[in-house]
Amino acid sequence: MMGLRIQVFLLSVWFQFLIISAVTNTDDAAALKSLKDIWKGLPPNWRGSDPCGDQWVGIECSGSRVTTITLSSMGLSGSLSGDITGLSDLMTLDLSYNKDLRGPLPSSIGNLNKLTNLILVGCSLSGSIPDSIGSLQKLVFLSLNSNGFSGKIPASIGRLTELYWLDLADNQLEGTIPVSDGVSPGLDLLVRTKHFHLGKNKLSGGIPEKLFSSDMVLIHVLFDSNQLTGPLPFSLGLVKTLEVVRFDGNSLSGTVPSNLNNLTNVQELFLSNNRLTGPMPNLTNLNTLSYLDMSNNTFDASTIPSWFSTLQSLTTLTMERTELQGEVPDTVFSLSHLQTVNLKQNRLNGTLDIGTSHSSQLQSINLQKNLITAFTDRPGANKDITILLAGNPICLESGDPKDYCTASEKGSPYTTPSKNCVPTSCSSGRISSPNCICAYPYTGIIHFRAPSFSGVGNETYYQNLEQTILVKYQSVSLPVESVSLSNPRKGQSQYLEISLAVFPSGQDSFNRTGISRIGFVLSNQTYKPPKEFGPFFFIGNGYLHFNGETRKSENSTSIGVIIGAAAGGCVLLLLLVLAGVYAYRQKRRAEKANDQNPFAHWDLNKSSGSIPQLKGARCFSFEELNKCTNHFSDTNNVGSGGYGKVYRATLPSGQLIAIKRAKQGSMQGAVEFKNEIELLSRVHHKNLVSLLGFCFERGEQMLIYEYIPNGCLRDSLSGKSGIRLEWLRRLKIAHGTARGLSYLHELADPPIIHRDVKSTNILLDEQLTAKVADFGVSKPMGDSDNEHITSQVKGTMGYMDPEYFMTNQLTEKSDVYSFGVLMLEILTGRRPIERGKYIVREIKMAMDKKKDLYNLYEILDPTIGLGTTLEGFEKFVDLAFRCVEESGADRPSMREVVKEIENILQLAGLNPNEESAPFSASYDDASKGYQHPYDNESFDYSGGFPASKIEAQ
Ligand SMILES: *[C@@H]1O[C@H](CO)[C@@H](O)[C@H](O)[C@H]1NC(C)=O
Ligand SMILES: *[C@@H]1O[C@H](CO)[C@@H](O)[C@H](O)[C@H]1NC(C)=O
Ligand SMILES: *[C@@H]1O[C@H](CO)[C@@H](O)[C@H](O)[C@H]1NC(C)=O
Ligand SMILES: *[C@@H]1O[C@H](CO)[C@@H](O)[C@H](O)[C@H]1NC(C)=O
Ligand SMILES: *[C@@H]1O[C@H](CO)[C@@H](O)[C@H](O)[C@H]1NC(C)=O
Repeated sequence: MMGLRIQVFLLSVWFQFLIISAVTNTDDAAALKSLKDIWKGLPPNWRGSDPCGDQWVGIECSGSRVTTITLSSMGLSGSLSGDITGLSDLMTLDLSYNKDLRGPLPSSIGNLNKLTNLILVGCSLSGSIPDSIGSLQKLVFLSLNSNGFSGKIPASIGRLTELYWLDLADNQLEGTIPVSDGVSPGLDLLVRTKHFHLGKNKLSGGIPEKLFSSDMVLIHVLFDSNQLTGPLPFSLGLVKTLEVVRFDGNSLSGTVPSNLNNLTNVQELFLSNNRLTGPMPNLTNLNTLSYLDMSNNTFDASTIPSWFSTLQSLTTLTMERTELQGEVPDTVFSLSHLQTVNLKQNRLNGTLDIGTSHSSQLQSINLQKNLITAFTDRPGANKDITILLAGNPICLESGDPKDYCTASEKGSPYTTPSKNCVPTSCSSGRISSPNCICAYPYTGIIHFRAPSFSGVGNETYYQNLEQTILVKYQSVSLPVESVSLSNPRKGQSQYLEISLAVFPSGQDSFNRTGISRIGFVLSNQTYKPPKEFGPFFFIGNGYLHFNGETRKSENSTSIGVIIGAAAGGCVLLLLLVLAGVYAYRQKRRAEKANDQNPFAHWDLNKSSGSIPQLKGARCFSFEELNKCTNHFSDTNNVGSGGYGKVYRATLPSGQLIAIKRAKQGSMQGAVEFKNEIELLSRVHHKNLVSLLGFCFERGEQMLIYEYIPNGCLRDSLSGKSGIRLEWLRRLKIAHGTARGLSYLHELADPPIIHRDVKSTNILLDEQLTAKVADFGVSKPMGDSDNEHITSQVKGTMGYMDPEYFMTNQLTEKSDVYSFGVLMLEILTGRRPIERGKYIVREIKMAMDKKKDLYNLYEILDPTIGLGTTLEGFEKFVDLAFRCVEESGADRPSMREVVKEIENILQLAGLNPNEESAPFSASYDDASKGYQHPYDNESFDYSGGFPASKIEAQ
């Protein structure tokens, strides 16, 4: 009896102890427990039943109540269930940058009535934004940008009277912008809000006059890239506080309200790519305006307004296709902060003179496709200014092409330099920081939505940015050693995108708390960039190297749990035995795989892409490629063939790549694959597509190439790409191709015979430089594509050397034959075999050397420029026929072919060693006069160029 009493006593003490020690409010604990059950990828210390007491990562409490959840970039997956609404004291919820967080925002979110910050940036949430969001009366920050939300903007947002920041950009939101009507609320009621970020959605309808009023304190109004129609409301001009205004990329029409000229605080104004009409707006009073873009509207034709020259803060003036005419006054260039002037595609005429007192920061003047007839070259002028005049009459004159006719826009390569140290080569995927310490940085991309500068050249901007980010992190006591920026680039909608890497201090990786706080500083806009960068958002990458955790330890916890549960004699023993056997097998398998893997002994990190000097191919991990192709999704697939599929992808560095992924059955042996990579990585030539790397993992064989934006020659010959190839361009493409092949035959070591020269294997870059693709790659046998011969002979019907076909003897001259066929294809635009007719025979039969153009007028591709003189045409045809001689011995070598085409180029008035001109204007025949390519319906610039189709086979 006594014993029992003591036991009961002890038990109750124990219970009391439990109750006292559990700090967390039971409802909050239960809510977190349910979230824990549906989310994967949570911090390993989310164990037990007392989140506050046990200091779960990402949870902050006040007393027993959970007030903050910050779990950005944790790699969480799952959905946001209604359970979260059990946390009734929650004030801050930040789950940004968890790409695998899916599903809708539950309607019950409206119960969290203490919430001040709701931040869900860059997840994959979808469905409509619930009306109940309007019940979050305390909300100050609402950031739902870069998700997949659809449906309308809930009018109830208008009830959020405390709201400071509204960011719904980069979703699929549709319908009209809600404004109040006495019954239901609307965005016009948000008189304390400073930020309307609603760009990149599908919003439609007019912009209500009621949306803006003089009571508002808005500073950023971003409605870019939607489907809005009708005029800009007059009321916009009443919001005197405005600093950044973007309405570009809509379908706005009508005249620009004159009171826009009252917005004297505006620094960035984008009205481009709309259908605005009427007179060019008068913006004389905007004396703090730095960035002005009104391109692609149909304003009344006018001369350059005099007020351009009075905007003292202007850095960037972009007025592409705005019906400007007359001469460009040199006073425009004397604005002291001016960096970039883009007046492409107007009807500006006369002489271009940038004067003697132009801005010292001036970097680029683009007047392509105007009617400029002369240029005053001033010896004192700054030589760093890129002047672009291609497509003006001044560049039509033959003879020595001038720099300004061929120059192209310069990028702004910037990477945070190493600080007085030599970057080390780091192992296991770590990266050398600016202080040359190897570590796993946290990475992501900062997107600046409207910088006040042009985003070119000047490094000072980036140095400031880097410095302020570092100082911010250190000032909130985060263990950050350094930050590094790289690859600033203008992305879609003129956003300036910069890759960011944040390096840990003390250790080589961050822990979970560190990452969630680093993410929060950016997702919550706690960090304010230097003023000239303007509004921004950040998209972080998942972090994979949390300090003190490895992927394995997650598994071993779960095994531990299983073992714990099964504890009880022989079950445990059996498990241990099984585990031992399993481990042994795994080890054997790994050893075996290593024996078969010819790369096993390569030091893959040595060729890591993080060291820019290394030109060789590097090894890509499957994960890396899987990620940047979005799991090899169909949208990234840009071509396919017998070999497999080709995917387009962007590396985190911003570089575009093409991934050729061999399909089952067309793979080579591992050793052959390795030999091939070694071979290809040694081949570098301007006219050959470069191999960047490979992937040999998980039974995959992939080759990674540089991405060539303008697709294959076939697509341009067929008119599919919209790039018009007149005679000179065709000559240059033939020349480039011949040079690439000549290099393969004579300078590559060992020499490479291409074996499959054809128009789908010639790619064109931005400058229309020809790049030969698909050399050196072993072709699969027995492939079903009927273009291919399925015996040992490899090649494509129509291009194939008959001698090789008969004798099976492969020589360089087989490539020469195929090249000859390609030359005829270049002349006619026809495929080598079309409707059963063979191009070589057809042309031979039609040809009459005594007649003009060898009597081939009928058969030539009209876009070649029929009606103009095709200088060197006959020589070109003669050369093609020498290449397709029956016997290889009678054909010239590729080197001779290159020489011959160079002679032809000279005949046509071109210097063969000159870079090909950038996209200069195409001119129709002289009698029709000058015509913009845009005037031509079939010339489609607007949709961008087609994705490069690299034919894998
Ligand atoms: C704003 O612009 C309008 C029309 O352009 C003008 O009538 C008005 O006086 C201006 N208001 C102020 C306060 O400058
Ligand atoms: C532009 O507006 C200013 C005052 O707001 C005025 O002085 C100037 O004459 C106007 N310019 C033109 C070309 O209408
Ligand atoms: C330039 O264009 C303007 C307006 O179209 C015209 O009046 C002027 O004569 C042209 N000047 C020259 C030099 O062609
Ligand atoms: C770069 O920008 C800074 C201020 O942002 C300016 O002071 C400096 O003169 C600029 N340098 C050049 C070369 O334009
Ligand atoms: C103007 O429109 C063309 C064609 O749609 C586009 O390529 C160009 O980028 C636009 N210019 C600007 C500055 O937006």
